[in-house]
This record gives sequence, structure tokens and C-alpha cells, in this order.
Amino acid sequence: MNLLQKTLAIAIAATGFAVVTNVMADEKSPAEAAIDYRQGAFTMIKHHFGPMGAMVKGEMEFNAAEFAKNADAVAALSKFPANGFIAGSYEGETEAKPEIELNADDFKKKMETFQVEAAALAEVAKGGDIAAIKPQFGKVGESCKACHKEYKKD
Ligand code: HEC
Repeated sequence: MNLLQKTLAIAIAATGFAVVTNVMADEKSPAEAAIDYRQGAFTMIKHHFGPMGAMVKGEMEFNAAEFAKNADAVAALSKFPANGFIAGSYEGETEAKPEIELNADDFKKKMETFQVEAAALAEVAKGGDIAAIKPQFGKVGESCKACHKEYKKD
């Protein structure tokens, strides 16, 4: 126990605050926290990416305003997953392959391609023209696939 934990333990003993107990039980290693972080970021990306895919495929009625909102969200969120790929986080509850560490430059390049294409999609989406949107949506989708193929376990 470090000093903080000791202080908390005393606080719990003294006050019985269940909230504090929960915080301590939730403590994760930096690697576990990083895995949670990047999976969380990708979950949010998927949440916004899915409806765009359905609209592009004609499974959902095209709504330009909704599409633009989702494209904006993916462009913003594309900046986050990179923060979660830290050394020592390629084992345990993760689908990330250890090759990410070995091919760090290539992984970084694939992440940047995703960010660039997602930003371009947000730009095109503002115009609301599905014919222009479709090919750019395809490029974003390809950037996901290109990385998953190399660096994500199925
Ligand atoms: C540069 C690499 C890269 C790019 C680009 C990328 N991903 Fe991923 N993605 C990964 C890796 C690696 C994992 C596995 C993360 C883990 O389990 O720790 C992952 C996991 C996921 C997951 C599962 C999250 C979970 O809860 O376990 C989803 C969903 C996902 N990606 C969607 C997408 C979508 C959609 C795109 C594009 C719009 C995308 N990803 C782009 C590398 C990438």
C-alpha cells in the first residue's frame, strides 16, 4: 500500500464510504486502462460509422444532416485511439496484435491515413451530396480494414 491507499483505507474504516471502496476495487494497470481506452474509442467510432454505412448501402434513408453529424464525430474520434496503444498493452483482454509494437511506423501511418480520410469525409459530408460522399466513405472504410487486417485479431 502506498500512502494514498493507506489514507483511503483509513478514510473507509472511519467513514465506511462505499464509493471509495469501489474506486479502489476498480484500479487497473496502465496497460489494462489503455486497452479499455482504445476499445472504448473504437466502440464510439463504430457507433457513428455504422449508420453512415447503412445510408451509403441504402439500408437506411439518407439524411444529410445526420450523416454530416456522424462524419464529424468519426473525424473527431479518429484522433483518440492512438493514445491507447502503449508499450506492454498487447497481451491480455485485447485483440490488438503485438506486431503493432514491432511495426510502429507502419501502424502510425495507417492511423494517420484513417484520420486524413475521416477528416475528408466530414468535409465532403457538409455538401450533402450522396454521390460525392459514397467514394469518400469507401476510403474511410478501407482505412479501417487495412489496419484490422494487419493488426487486429479476428
Ligand atoms: C491504425 C489501426 C486501426 C484503424 C485505422 C482502425 N482500427 Fe479498429 N481496431 C484496431 C485494433 C488494433 C483493435 C483492437 C483493440 C484492442 O482489442 O485492444 C481495433 C478494434 C476495433 C473495434 C472493437 C472494439 C472493442 O470493443 O473491442 C471496433 C468496433 C473497431 N476497431 C472499429 C473500427 C472502425 C469502424 C474503424 C474505421 C472507421 C477502425 N476501427 C479503424 C486498429 C484500427
